Amino acid sequence: MREAAGLMVRSGFEVHDKGTIENLVTSSDLAVQDFLTNKLAELLPGSGFLCEEEDLNDIAGHEYVWVIDPIDGTANYARGNRNCCISVALTKGGEQYMGVVYSPWRGECYYAKKGQGSYCNGARLKVSDRPFENGLLFTAMSTYRKEWSRLCSDIIYDLYMQCNDVRRTGSAAVELCMTATGYNDLYFELRLMPWDYAAATLILKEAGGCVCNFKGEEPSLYVPDMVIAANNEANCRRILDTVRRHIDKLPY
Ligand code: IPD
Ligand code: CA
Ligand code: CA
Repeated sequence: MREAAGLMVRSGFEVHDKGTIENLVTSSDLAVQDFLTNKLAELLPGSGFLCEEEDLNDIAGHEYVWVIDPIDGTANYARGNRNCCISVALTKGGEQYMGVVYSPWRGECYYAKKGQGSYCNGARLKVSDRPFENGLLFTAMSTYRKEWSRLCSDIIYDLYMQCNDVRRTGSAAVELCMTATGYNDLYFELRLMPWDYAAATLILKEAGGCVCNFKGEEPSLYVPDMVIAANNEANCRRILDTVRRHIDKLPY
């Protein structure tokens, strides 16, 4: 991961949009993804890949699948905002097995292996015990699908009135890992891609947190899904109940 991060922290990269002004890709995203897919294929021959860039979706028939976001928080990265990271998850038999989220400028390497706890730079992580009313909520407004932003805003307003305050860093993986550390307590996004959360939700669960989708089940590891998360099951359920007051099915 540190070698991959070397390709990220360099200066002088190109920025392109992927159809809309909000959805960016840089030459660093492509370089990091290329580096990781080559190295990880050598490390685990026969494994599959689901990666954000270049439509890399090779999951069928593979017991092990790497789910990779080469840079989570690209809009931050492109502007020199250091809230961004590399996110790598390994799934085995369709379930989360390992996750690493490395944010080089924040100096934080988060990692977890299923059943073995989660860590940041060697220190064991544990979620907060704050009640919902004192919780800080990480959330976002459906950046790439603005037609759902009014709905997000209604849900976020409802959650905001029940909790302490709202935060947004611009990297879902960093935000979920910060929830694992206990800095924050609550999380909601209407629609994320698996590479945004596949590593970080394992890290959060291994720190004692709770994660679910709109059905109250584990978010999908291979297709887009809603992500609700919290420091405990009751708070996770309360976010879900709030969301269900606004919609009776996903808009996608
Ligand atoms: C984005 C970030 C952001 C979240 C977006 C994601 P990207 O990932 O995780 O926090 O709100 O939904 O798409 O595009 O920077 O890799
Ligand atoms: Ca992402
Ligand atoms: Ca990305």
